[in-house]
Amino acid sequence: MPDSRVSSSAPRPVSAGAPSPTAVSGMGAEKPAVEFRDIDIAYGKFVAVRDFSLSIRKGSFVTLLGPSGCGKTTILRSIAGLVDISGGQIMIDGRRVDDVPIYKRNIGLVFQSYALFPHKTVFDNVAFGLKYRNVPKPEIARKVGQALDMVRLPGSEKKLPSQLSGGQQQRIALARAIVFEPQVLLLDEPLSALDANMREEMRVEIKKIQKATGITAIFVTHDQEEALSMSDRIVVMNAGSVEQIGTPEEVYERPATAFVADFLGKANMLAGMVSKTGGQTAVTLAAGQTVNVTSPRPLAQGSKVIVVVRPQKLSVGAVAGANRLSGRVVSASYLGGSAIYEIDIGGGTNIRANAPINGRVVREGEAIEVGFDPGGCVLLDESGRRIS
Ligand SMILES: Nc1ncnc2c1ncn2[C@@H]1O[C@H](COP(=O)(O)OP(=O)(O)O)[C@@H](O)[C@H]1O
Ligand SMILES: [Mg+2]
Repeated sequence: MPDSRVSSSAPRPVSAGAPSPTAVSGMGAEKPAVEFRDIDIAYGKFVAVRDFSLSIRKGSFVTLLGPSGCGKTTILRSIAGLVDISGGQIMIDGRRVDDVPIYKRNIGLVFQSYALFPHKTVFDNVAFGLKYRNVPKPEIARKVGQALDMVRLPGSEKKLPSQLSGGQQQRIALARAIVFEPQVLLLDEPLSALDANMREEMRVEIKKIQKATGITAIFVTHDQEEALSMSDRIVVMNAGSVEQIGTPEEVYERPATAFVADFLGKANMLAGMVSKTGGQTAVTLAAGQTVNVTSPRPLAQGSKVIVVVRPQKLSVGAVAGANRLSGRVVSASYLGGSAIYEIDIGGGTNIRANAPINGRVVREGEAIEVGFDPGGCVLLDESGRRIS
């Protein structure tokens, strides 16, 4: 389990990865498509979302990423008006949503379960939102046709959901959500019911459709790969609060907290103490070894730090990089092009390396050297926040 203690000390997001409220009011600036200002949401006495702030640029694809129960669905529901907020404000296109009745909110929804009407044809399923909005019949037929083209199921109007595969049903659900050109498209774990191959295909598909339509999308997932591969921005959440907002590269390469480093890609976190400053910074690890690190600012000798190293930044065997640690292989998993090693480096510390295979997979029990560059790590302070 990720360490939830980190969240309480995590920095509040200053910028939401999109124009800040003040920047937005500037001349000629576009209003954000959706903006959350310090929202709180409670179920009875239980606070599910706390101080959530986020500004989403029009036409962007933003993902809420976090473990089950962290409040992702609750936030989506608040936009659609399916749950009340107990504090703060939500704005859609610069307008407070509290002022807009639910049935007038122009929002498309796609859920994990396809939630199609089982006894209605594909046409009637997709046409639902248009009929509801009293769109004239010929226009309905045209728009349904276009939406089905968009999801690459043209000509499927007369079919019933039961005649379609899971992936196809989810495409119909997507067509139904975009057919009335909503201001915002909300997608709550839409791929998690699909098998692995279909999931990857649908990732690409959803992204293409979002780009082609220019629709603003808020996507929810607990799957880091989905988030990294699909998003313009990722909001990493933990226990109802924001841990970090950034591009996929930012949250992966420069995790703001220990929680983010662990949740995205299971980074190694090596506790240590600054043992040399001035010029190159050196950290002596709890396991005994001393490593050189690149610090963004001078640190006091003796300060406690956590050295975060991604498994992919570690080389194994024919070691490159300035820092070398010796250890023993505890487990080795062959993945084809690379292998994942768990390596005991002493002092009760195991590290994970994901390295290309140099000749052969190193076996369990063998002695091994691992290496990394001083610039290949991120430094966190004692409380788990990135040193910047
Ligand atoms: N209707 C509800 N009544 C009470 N608690 C709820 C309700 N819905 C969700 N919760 C709780 O709120 C928290 C956030 O839930 P949710 O938004 O569904 O999380 P996620 O989508 O990230 O898995 C969880 O602890 C969940 O148990
Ligand atoms: Mg959920």
